[in-house]
Amino acid sequence: MSIHRTCMAFGSLALVLLANCAPSSDSSDNHWPELTSSIPVDADLEEHITSLLAQMSLEQKIGQMTQPEIQYITPDEVRDYHIGSVLNGGGSFPGGAKYSSVADWLALADAIYDASMDTSTGGLAIPVIWGTDAVHGHNNVIGATLFPHNIGLGAMRNPDLIERIGEITALEVATTGIDWDFAPTLAVVRDDRWGRTYEGYSEDPEIVRDYAGRMITGLQGQVGTGQFLDASRVVATAKHFVGDGGTDGGVDRGDNLSTEQQLVGIHAQGYFPAFEAGAQTVMASFNSWNGQKMHGNPYLLTEILKGRLGFDGFVIGDWNGHGEVPGCTNESCAQAVIAGVDMIMVPEDWKAIIENTIAQVRAGEIAESRVDDAVRRILRVKIRAGLFEKGRPSSRPHAGDMSLVGAPEHRAVAREAVRQSLVLLKNDGGLLPLARDLDVLVAGDGADNIGKQSGGWTISWQGTENTNADFPGAASIFAGIEAAVSSAGGHTTISEDGSFTGQPDVAIVVFGENPYAEMMGDLETLSFCAENSESLAMLRQLKSQDIPVVSVFLSGRPRWVNAELNASTAFVAAWLPGTEGAGVADVLFRDTVGQVNHDFTGKLSFSWPNAPMQTPLNRGDSIYEPLFPYGFGLTYNDTDSLGDDLPELECPS
Ligand code: BGC
Ligand code: BGC
Repeated sequence: MSIHRTCMAFGSLALVLLANCAPSSDSSDNHWPELTSSIPVDADLEEHITSLLAQMSLEQKIGQMTQPEIQYITPDEVRDYHIGSVLNGGGSFPGGAKYSSVADWLALADAIYDASMDTSTGGLAIPVIWGTDAVHGHNNVIGATLFPHNIGLGAMRNPDLIERIGEITALEVATTGIDWDFAPTLAVVRDDRWGRTYEGYSEDPEIVRDYAGRMITGLQGQVGTGQFLDASRVVATAKHFVGDGGTDGGVDRGDNLSTEQQLVGIHAQGYFPAFEAGAQTVMASFNSWNGQKMHGNPYLLTEILKGRLGFDGFVIGDWNGHGEVPGCTNESCAQAVIAGVDMIMVPEDWKAIIENTIAQVRAGEIAESRVDDAVRRILRVKIRAGLFEKGRPSSRPHAGDMSLVGAPEHRAVAREAVRQSLVLLKNDGGLLPLARDLDVLVAGDGADNIGKQSGGWTISWQGTENTNADFPGAASIFAGIEAAVSSAGGHTTISEDGSFTGQPDVAIVVFGENPYAEMMGDLETLSFCAENSESLAMLRQLKSQDIPVVSVFLSGRPRWVNAELNASTAFVAAWLPGTEGAGVADVLFRDTVGQVNHDFTGKLSFSWPNAPMQTPLNRGDSIYEPLFPYGFGLTYNDTDSLGDDLPELECPS
């Protein structure tokens, strides 16, 4: 039993972890720290909940435990079925209208809220709680500020900025009357073939731990102060509990084969600071742990999470995640409730699950005490979030305030995050930083494409089918370059395919992955050239024309890009920067008097592979031979010796 190893490997940790290092008094010696809620038990509040519970029918209790999706339910049904919560999924909008305004979102929030408070068909008035995936800003809403995806934020190593991003996200969400954000993702991502790699801050628990609590505080406000869940804040979600980033082969919704010690020491590390910061909800993960689906795992959801870790908020299921438990369907799953899921995310089949769950309680299959515990937790969070007092969504302080959505000061923070997230991998001969008064060719299909630079979970679920017109107020990477260069007498030519008439001084080629999200984004290998030979051909073509090439690589994870590196003079990993593409030019170009404007400060939060199948590849591996290690990132003071003779293996010649 090597408790010692855990302590050494994760030696410099916050308090909570020290509990993990202390000899365990628990005979099961399961490595989990023993925590208590950072919000003290409030006897009056608990008594209030007891009295509410006493007035609720079984139907109303099960309604509280049910979360349909807005496309599949009307406000009248929210009232009639005593629905406790709704969500909007990725790419779902009020009335199905992509261009819904803030006022449209707010009107739907009002309608659903009014329905939840309407007792004309019986029951108690209990305010509904609406959840959304604001995972890099309020990304379902047109005109919102979109931050770099978490992988880019991981490269910043800046917990203060993380908290500020959480605060801004909460405020923009609050304008639409939505109460709850399904963020942050605390996955510690071990195999970069996973299509959700970019939703994680890092492959290493260190950064996830440093960020988790700060993001929760940004979203919810500081626990124990008046700002906690005030009108500017929203309820946060620590997700996906637990082990989502550690599935075998990086398969989405796959099986995590970790030992319990690895589960605690790697995958659960973000949760401890999240609870310290008062995270009010936890989303159960789609993945299995050693063959058992998390939605059906009473040991981890109840004994560990709600017992040992002292979590007193509620557990939300993931999108029909209950239906993946053996023996369950989307319409029926006593096992998930018994295991500890308190609220079931059941987008479409909510009527059936309500009916079946009620029957399962009546038949004694689900204990009534379990239902009471689930509803108690839901009501506790609703009360703490002030939902009983905040009133109609449109009556709340920031509701409908258009000036906050995509506000200039919010965009400035996002642009700062973009600058800090960029990682310089190569800079032969000190090509960067560039002077502004050059003739600059800007090429590649990512150069003037805000959808591509924003990735998945951007207006639509997969981030596809967006055009620049869908991002009012945003800047493409090209727009930022053009503004910098033209301000100093230089000249830009935008040319997606890299063709030109007059020989430019330099080419900036913006290329990389096209948007994807969960399910669609998994890969077989990390090779980029194998499926994207046109980008490589363009880089080589420019190089053969004696044009210095700056590659700006957009991606949701490290990819094997040896050939692209060889064909580039300078190479920047830009991740998925979001709407403030001008942050790229801020760093690539000198200021107007020729000095370094902003240096590179970003450092890899993921190890970069030196072969297509070099995955899993993580700091601390016994054999660790990445191309660029965790923590790598050049600055303008470094002289780079990468050269252009990296092995190109399977790339087209
Ligand atoms: C929804 C997403 C959801 C996904 C799960 C999509 O249709 O829009 O929000 O995560 O389905 O399968
Ligand atoms: C995803 C979650 C998300 C939910 C709602 C699921 O498919 O795994 O991260 O919060 O859908 O859109």
